[in-house]
Amino acid sequence: MRANKADRTMTRSLQAAPRDAWWRNGVVYQIYPRSFQDSDGDGIGDLPGIRRRLDYLADLGVDALWVSPFYPSPMADFGYDVADYYCDVDPRFGSLADFDALVAAVHARGMKLIVDFVPNHTSTQHPWFLESRSSRDDPKQDWYLWRDPAPDGGPPNNWLSNFGSPAWTFDAASGQYYCHLFLAAQPDLNWRHPEVRVALLEALRFWLRRGVDGFRLDVIYHVVKDVHFRDNPANPGFVEGMDPVHRLLPVYTADQPEVAQVLAEMRRVVDEFSDAASARVLVAETYLPIERLGAYYGADAAGNLLGAHLPFNFHLIGTPWNAASIDALVRAYEAALPAGAAPNWVLGNHDRSRVASRTGARSARLAAMLLLTLRGTPTMYYGDELGLEDVAIEPQDVQDPFEKNQPGLGLGRDPVRTPMPWSNAPHAGFTTGRPWLRLNDDWPGRNVLAQAADDRSILQLYRRLIALRRRHPALHRGEWLPLGVEGSTLAYAREHAGERLVVVLNFGSDNAEVLERQAPAGARILLSTLLDRRGELARGSHLRPFEGWILGLQ
Ligand code: GLC
Repeated sequence: MRANKADRTMTRSLQAAPRDAWWRNGVVYQIYPRSFQDSDGDGIGDLPGIRRRLDYLADLGVDALWVSPFYPSPMADFGYDVADYYCDVDPRFGSLADFDALVAAVHARGMKLIVDFVPNHTSTQHPWFLESRSSRDDPKQDWYLWRDPAPDGGPPNNWLSNFGSPAWTFDAASGQYYCHLFLAAQPDLNWRHPEVRVALLEALRFWLRRGVDGFRLDVIYHVVKDVHFRDNPANPGFVEGMDPVHRLLPVYTADQPEVAQVLAEMRRVVDEFSDAASARVLVAETYLPIERLGAYYGADAAGNLLGAHLPFNFHLIGTPWNAASIDALVRAYEAALPAGAAPNWVLGNHDRSRVASRTGARSARLAAMLLLTLRGTPTMYYGDELGLEDVAIEPQDVQDPFEKNQPGLGLGRDPVRTPMPWSNAPHAGFTTGRPWLRLNDDWPGRNVLAQAADDRSILQLYRRLIALRRRHPALHRGEWLPLGVEGSTLAYAREHAGERLVVVLNFGSDNAEVLERQAPAGARILLSTLLDRRGELARGSHLRPFEGWILGLQ
């Protein structure tokens, strides 16, 4: 639905104060479509499969689904190498009709659908790139980043690909190199070219017209590179064994000032399609320091936020897992946000080790409570609600190009992309064929059906947390008030319109007393991560190892 001018004016004022926008207060759930549910027995998940599982997601209580790429692709990077104008569905995942049916079914359940958008690069098989490399005189030659060799015939500069090796590949036919910050099969687009911008923005409109509620913008902070193609400086903090891309500091390949203009243009497009009933949203993939995240909200001189609605905050993934570090992180993030900006938190995704493996299985429940009680939009990753851990993949079964390029460094992402275990049917109900990646070893017990039947499972904890978050404005829109760290416990309050809830989390492996300033007299346990007590007075009791509470103060 395309908003007219009057609507757009209304939209703008609405967006100036979107305190109750769905993307601000809701919970986002990421689906890696290859691994969620297969519907046709080829061992690869697909869009009709996702549709079949929507009731599960609605029961879980999530508000929005983000689906990783399903566009036509040779799958060199499993869909993050798009081969067709971003306007179709790869037959492995279904068809455009399946996509339309998915949008309708998501909306029928009151949920939203966010799709992935990959603006930095295409596949080498994309018609744009085929034209671009066909001749140095081709009108699309400049759509990608072509440069002459250095005087010694080598790459034009020292830039590195995020997947290892130089960011340049030589093309014998043209005698030039093209730039790729990821695989050689993923050439980078030239966002300084006006026609590239028009084409990509039009692709956004294509999906908006089909009803999507927003986009997750893949590696948006990389889309513009230094206009002079200067060498990146060496990273003094690099030590052998680290991901080789960290040999250099990405001074000229990431976070360039012009990225803000690109984001602002994308924002204008999604705002064209926002109306009073529902805003469309931009979620930006931003692996950046906390002090840089603020810029991606795009505040203008008057304080209007004209960039991404939610620049991803990935810092829970890398921060040491203890009360003091997390307290310091939340304070620093809260302090760095521009006025009116919506915070957000992420525990994991299809690129990073799963939270249950990073923090330890017993802490996975604590992590769930943290994610769902901090101030800001939480993004969950499929399977984390089951406490799924990283799954070791034998070398002969490796699928991820990152691991294939740089084996043995622990960079591969297959372990976090294994199929969703649904039941104890063959292959955990994921497929009737052979799954493209193996399942978790413990799937006969760790699956949706088994955990749904167990009152104290981590799945039930997620359901209860999401329900509580939805019921209490203090949790989904309240202020965050630190109550400090005491030994291994972290405490904070959430407060809105006179309602105050307190969260106390024990990161330690011993029992922990709860102090007066954390739990005033009369505070009662609304929810324990262990799901085995409720209604007890907090004072006089203690938290068990890795236990967390939400306390109500009456
Ligand atoms: C993003 C994606 C990742 C992909 C890369 C290149 O970081 O999350 O999966 O490999 O971009 O598109």
